[in-house]
Amino acid sequence: MTQERKNRILSPREMGECREYTEKMRQLNEGKGKKVFVLTFGCQQNEADSEKLAGMSMDMGYTVTKDPHEADLILVNTCAIREHAEKKALSIIGQYKHIKAARPETMIGVCGCMVVQEHRAEEIKFRYPYVDFIFGTSSLHRFPKLLYDKTTKGKRLYCPQESEFCVAEGLRINRESNYRAWVSIMYGCNNFCSYCIVPYVRGRERSREMHEIVAEVRDLAQRGYKDITLLGQNVNSYAKDSEFTYDFADLMAELSKIEGDFLLRFMTSHPKDASKKLIDTMAQNPKIARHFHLPMQSGSDEILAKMNRRYDTKKYLETVDYLREKIPGITITTDIIVGFPGETEEDFEGTLNMLRRVKFDMIYSFIYSPRKGTPAAEMECQIPDSVKSERFNRLLAVQNEIAFELNQQEVGKTLRVLCDGISKNNEKVYSGRTEGNKIVFFDGDESDTGKYINVKIDRAEAFALYGQKV
Ligand code: SAH
Ligand code: SF4
Ligand code: F3S
Repeated sequence: MTQERKNRILSPREMGECREYTEKMRQLNEGKGKKVFVLTFGCQQNEADSEKLAGMSMDMGYTVTKDPHEADLILVNTCAIREHAEKKALSIIGQYKHIKAARPETMIGVCGCMVVQEHRAEEIKFRYPYVDFIFGTSSLHRFPKLLYDKTTKGKRLYCPQESEFCVAEGLRINRESNYRAWVSIMYGCNNFCSYCIVPYVRGRERSREMHEIVAEVRDLAQRGYKDITLLGQNVNSYAKDSEFTYDFADLMAELSKIEGDFLLRFMTSHPKDASKKLIDTMAQNPKIARHFHLPMQSGSDEILAKMNRRYDTKKYLETVDYLREKIPGITITTDIIVGFPGETEEDFEGTLNMLRRVKFDMIYSFIYSPRKGTPAAEMECQIPDSVKSERFNRLLAVQNEIAFELNQQEVGKTLRVLCDGISKNNEKVYSGRTEGNKIVFFDGDESDTGKYINVKIDRAEAFALYGQKV
């Protein structure tokens, strides 16, 4: 086991190489005012990786720009979770052809989950010849060397994935926000849900050591961060991949001891191993936000089995009931997939019934998208698109009613909201999120951004609460 771990935590030599090429790039870029643009698709894990890519670029002498047209280096961090995510990324990469034509010296790199798949790497190679380099999710620490080799040797470079997955500590992070932060606590996934591409593109689970995470969170708390989300594809299996003597609940308990006015969150918990110990830890520690995201995926035991989720609706409900018993008022959210192969009308009704039984505050719903190389893509009885979208709309209608009713219970309450600034859709209104992660619109001002504001809720809809500052 120890030997295995040694192989996976990056050795000082490898990190030394990362630093060496960062320094070489910095010297090449010195005084040239170079700019980097990073575009991110996909989940929070990808957002967190992009913050590292931006941080590493800054160490190499780039400043960050929000305009790809003025960038000397463009990085597209892709996602492969559904076909739509891949299409969006490919379409943007297609548009960058014009940028390359106008400014041939602009370097374009494509990274992330999509290009780990061989067929997509090949596609980029042949259909997007102006892409300078690609690298996979396990190769973030190789990025400076790749960039250096590309800059000095000029050849197109392909590094879709390392054979060895690892944990790289000490990479600079350029955080997008100065009050909300992502902290990756583990990488990869061992679950192989039959529909999901993640284990193939992110490799096996590997956890960071607790002391590294504690140091990162302590530093964030000291710098005034208010909302810190721990990331992993299945945080409940944190540390199980190693000889560590602690588990995820122990980590949460340890982090809760850190001083400061902040809340801790985590994503994502797999229902098969969301432990009572974790729920008890949450109940005992007010620093852990009273919000639990527990992806159910389906309310049919047959479909759950075919999905290889390894829990049934009974087990799922037991966890929900325990959560509500121990943490009254907790917000519970979930992910649902509609139209998994073989899903009958009865299976789908099972999902609707679970929605009515659990009463989720919010659901993230997805139409099943076959992923090349996953078992579900090969299953018989794929559901026609028309049936999928019809079910999807019915699901949303049922959930809207539930969320609307639940949100009415918030009217009249005064809630503490972390303000995110002016709302994207209405410039007169400010938005923020409650401890339960519900969106609140209110009459704020610019100085509220990044602060906790008390808002009295006077109106509620299915997706948001509305109120006035008190
Ligand atoms: N690790 C997390 C989920 C990561 S992916 C977990 O296990 O909960 C986020 C969500 O995308 C999943 O929960 C699932 O609902 C959805 N998803 C994954 N693969 C999909 C596919 N092939 N088609 C549609 N939705 C999918
Ligand atoms: Fe995908 Fe399942 Fe792993 Fe989540 S737990 S990332 S859904 S394989
Ligand atoms: Fe997408 Fe990769 Fe995340 S496939 S959802 S970016 S882990």
